[in-house]
Amino acid sequence: MKNLVLCGFMGSGKTTVGKLAAKRLGLKFVDMDDYIERSQGMRISEIFEKSGEEAFRAMEREACRTLAGESGLIIATGGGALTFPGNVQVLSETGLIVFLDVTPETVLKRLRHDTARPLLAENREERVRSLLARRRPLYQAAAFAAVNANGSAMETAEEIIRIYRSAFPI
Ligand code: S3P
Repeated sequence: MKNLVLCGFMGSGKTTVGKLAAKRLGLKFVDMDDYIERSQGMRISEIFEKSGEEAFRAMEREACRTLAGESGLIIATGGGALTFPGNVQVLSETGLIVFLDVTPETVLKRLRHDTARPLLAENREERVRSLLARRRPLYQAAAFAAVNANGSAMETAEEIIRIYRSAFPI
């Protein structure tokens, strides 16, 4: 069974939506950041602090390779993971990539109390707007389909389920 890979910016709802869709589709949910935190025994913020972003990206590459080797998963990727063509290549071999598209306003609203994202620690509004503008075309290029993810998690999950089912009818 093919994997379903969710990509999109921080705050696009990859984890929340992925869990909902996994339950309905009978697939196993894996959050890539959780997977990295567990395998490293450190929070993402600690990894950035102690080892730097480059080291984190190497761990992320490794996580992409490992998870692509499994089947029947819904994988919520980290917001940067699918901005790297090598990761897109690896994950698309065994999975259908769906992009959760959100506006900067949605991100800013959802993450207003967040302290876990090292890339948004400073100049948050400026960072969200510029990083999202830079990454959006990359997510679009990586994905088989895009969904508007500004609404409720349930609405977005329904849309993703529909895409998965029409790509893989039983
Ligand atoms: C990142 C997004 C985060 C996490 C790390 C870097 C990014 O994941 O992987 O902080 O580069 O956008 P979420 O998208 O789950 O917040």
